[in-house]
Amino acid sequence: MDPNRVLIFDTTLRDGEQSPGISLNTAEKLEIAHQLARLGVDVIEAGFPITSPGDFEAVQAISHEVEGPIIAGLARTHGQDIDAAWDAVKDAERPRIHVFISTSDIHIEHQLQTTREDVKGQARAAVAHARQHCEDVEFSPMDATRADVEFTAEVCAIAVEEGATTINIPDTVGYTMPAEYTACLERLYALVPGLRDVVVSVHCHDDLGMAVANSLAGVLAGARQVECAVNGIGERAGNASLEEIVMLLRTRGDAVGGLYTGLNSHELARTSRLVSRLTGYVVQPNKAIVGRNAFAHESGIHQDGVLKERATYEIMDATTVGLDSNAIVLGKHSGRHALKQALEDLGFTVTGQALNQAFARFKEIADRKKQVTAMDLEAIVTDELREEVAGYTLEWFDVEASSRRPPHATVCVRSPEGQELQGSFTGDGPVDAIFRAINTATGIEAKLREFRVDAVTGGQDALGETSVVLELDGRSASGQGVSTDIIEAAGRAYVRALSNAVRRRAAAEQELEASPL
Ligand code: KIV
Ligand code: ZN
Repeated sequence: MDPNRVLIFDTTLRDGEQSPGISLNTAEKLEIAHQLARLGVDVIEAGFPITSPGDFEAVQAISHEVEGPIIAGLARTHGQDIDAAWDAVKDAERPRIHVFISTSDIHIEHQLQTTREDVKGQARAAVAHARQHCEDVEFSPMDATRADVEFTAEVCAIAVEEGATTINIPDTVGYTMPAEYTACLERLYALVPGLRDVVVSVHCHDDLGMAVANSLAGVLAGARQVECAVNGIGERAGNASLEEIVMLLRTRGDAVGGLYTGLNSHELARTSRLVSRLTGYVVQPNKAIVGRNAFAHESGIHQDGVLKERATYEIMDATTVGLDSNAIVLGKHSGRHALKQALEDLGFTVTGQALNQAFARFKEIADRKKQVTAMDLEAIVTDELREEVAGYTLEWFDVEASSRRPPHATVCVRSPEGQELQGSFTGDGPVDAIFRAINTATGIEAKLREFRVDAVTGGQDALGETSVVLELDGRSASGQGVSTDIIEAAGRAYVRALSNAVRRRAAAEQELEASPL
């Protein structure tokens, strides 16, 4: 491999999916995985198969369908974790098993309640076991940045000896600083000569806002794989943001000795929108690279400068991250063939029943909206995708709103078993009324935690995109909805969140012993 090439290991579907309230189903994970392949990531960490049958199924489906990237499954050092990870990834073109165990004394004493000797033994046995299944094995000494570096080096040496092909050094709790991380990696290279023969990887969390800076420090110290997530989602404050790493190396490659990634940066904005939509995690407007305002100029002086010469206030061209065109693609007279072609141009392969559904939805929206843009189409297709999974659906609703009487809603919801359920409620506002009417119809007392409305594009007839986070039995779940009618979008989002919450509750009941990291 070219020594300047930095591999991108995307963990959106594993570490990213561990963010509170995210509950992606298999179809949604597949859609994200296909988009990650289009973006050109080197590795997709598709999940942690032992943790639930749903996670196993999604990793397996991604391994069957997604071509290009290596597909990795995470495992603790337990034999059954490693076997489950292998069963889930074995049909991938290029499978990988990723094994981890902590090397910090805090974790060894309090969480694992064992000894350093035992950790060495577990690491040895686990890597050897994983290598019996698969040639590509990654090993991570968890919480390495708070561990005794000499001990971490011993464990890494064992992993290399047993055949690990990638050694990842995680900053699990986002504690390290660039100079410390550099020193840690330099010391590991000095203590474990075998590290020169494997790929060294970095995995940094963002608790102190240092994940990208630390990842860069790691790469400058010799690492050639960066673990990151789209929009920086992940456990607690998240992981290093994929788009920031990619554009940092692309824009400042000259300052870092020509390091580069193999990603197609033009797919970044779209990947970010897809992940945001499916996870319900909004991208802050001022987020670097993919935020709505990342390329907007507000002050007169800046606008003047950019009009004269873009480089005066822009270090990147918006088109290189895919923020170029939202040209009008279709109108209400466009036919099924035109829709199919436009979707293909956008990178969606939609055929058969899915195309029929997307077309019906497109017609419904094109009747209400003069022009259907690329961004609208993306929102419609992503919204339709959510319907594939059995759950509650909103059949119809009536909402009466007035400034003189409390708003009243009646809804009809179809249950996963196909039963029509009706309920009514008088709420504090029309949205509150429809949400409570859905609770009445389904008999499920979920609590609303968050509700958000965004416009997909500008204009009075813009599509509204709503996101709901609710809580059921202490577990949160999210759902999203798209429509030109905000109340309808809110109702759709609510029933989806409810379906996800019910599914999560059922999955928790079946869950095997492990809990995600
Ligand atoms: O943060 C962490 O240490 C992890 C490991 C499993 C790599 O996510
Ligand atoms: Zn992590």
